[in-house]
Amino acid sequence: MANSDNPTLESLAAQITELSGQLPTSYSNLTGEMFMVRQKLLDSLNDMWWLAQGPSESIFNYCHSAIPDATVLNTLNSFGFWGAVPLTGSTTYADIAHEVQLPQAVVYRLLQHAMTLRIFAEEAGKDGNAPRVRHTSRSAALARQPGLRALVSTVLDDAGAPLMVLPEALRRFSSGKTDLTQKTDETAFALFHQGGQFGGKFETSWDYIENDGEGEKKGWRQRNFVQFMSYLKDIFLLEDKVLAAYDWASAGKASVVDIGGSAGHDAFALAQKFPDLTITVQDLPQVRSSFEASRPAAVADRVSFSAHSFFEPQPVQADIYLIKLILHDWPDAECLKILRGLIPALRPGAKVIILEYLGNYGTATDVRVMALFNAKERSVSKWKSLVAEVDPRFKIEKVEAKPEAFFALIEAVWTG
Ligand SMILES: C[S@@+](CC[C@H](N)C(=O)[O-])C[C@H]1O[C@@H](n2cnc3c(N)ncnc32)[C@H](O)[C@@H]1O
Repeated sequence: MANSDNPTLESLAAQITELSGQLPTSYSNLTGEMFMVRQKLLDSLNDMWWLAQGPSESIFNYCHSAIPDATVLNTLNSFGFWGAVPLTGSTTYADIAHEVQLPQAVVYRLLQHAMTLRIFAEEAGKDGNAPRVRHTSRSAALARQPGLRALVSTVLDDAGAPLMVLPEALRRFSSGKTDLTQKTDETAFALFHQGGQFGGKFETSWDYIENDGEGEKKGWRQRNFVQFMSYLKDIFLLEDKVLAAYDWASAGKASVVDIGGSAGHDAFALAQKFPDLTITVQDLPQVRSSFEASRPAAVADRVSFSAHSFFEPQPVQADIYLIKLILHDWPDAECLKILRGLIPALRPGAKVIILEYLGNYGTATDVRVMALFNAKERSVSKWKSLVAEVDPRFKIEKVEAKPEAFFALIEAVWTG
């Protein structure tokens, strides 16, 4: 809710006018302060949106459109509509149908709904010809940015259907208990997929992302996910957080393992900035091709990829292990298993650096990891107690919560 407890349309309109006046005209490189102004503006717009509809109708309208909105965005993304319309000029429904290989009547209906979301727009055909479709700034952003398309695919296509069966999963596995079930085969994801409704029998969301698809298509969700992570790194400037997470320069000629390091975006940034580091990126096998395609030649001799599951004992004896945005995808028992998996490789003095979202990062992400993994976003004290539980030979040397950066950092050393 915006500041006032009882906002009126007029008070919100005044607030919106005032906040709009503070925003710069370009959103690239928004300062932290301007980011917060924009958040306040969105909050006020949200309040105005609900208030203009009234309590009952706002719920009615939301239920009516929330799932079709998401479904249409996901469907246009899945069928490549973004590229079926030229970035300048316009085209016909018939040509789009031909491009995306769907019946024209289906294309028309999907686009009519998309246009209510300001995704594509229709213009009258000249001289009595059929109406035409052109891009809007929102659909053009999807045409231009592969990372944004990957985000739609990961958040809506990978996770959307499992999220819809969360009520049934909670009914079956957590109802009447004091806590959410911690079993990875009792997630909404497992309920949706393990029965084979999607023609597969995937144990976890990672199994699905890694193994969905046949032949050349196999691994397509992982290649997408890699692009999504790299896009997040760019828009949230996550590279800075990795570079600042540790005094890498003082580590000298050190070996680093980036556990679950995706296609190496963090490792490449580290290796480029700190020429004494040698880094092994470990992740699931389907990530390798994306890693090889994106590794800069300048760091090719110092950054390598190794297919390794973090549930298996760690094979590499390194000075530093980086675990970034991994543990929030798992319940406590799996987090402990992942961290204990390091122990066989640890030499006294080896460091483990954990970087995670802070619990307040986003309620939407929190619900998504609940549906997919029975996992949760955690507070910094919860992260600390989880690491303390791994083994008494781990000494926690640093705990930093950076709410302005939405991140928690835990640094532990193995005392052996
Ligand atoms: C949320 S992403 C984080 C990626 C990267 N650390 C970053 O911060 O951008 C989680 C990563 O864990 C990987 N992963 C999932 N299960 C794994 C397993 N059993 N062993 C190794 N990596 C795994 C995924 O493929 C994915 O790249």
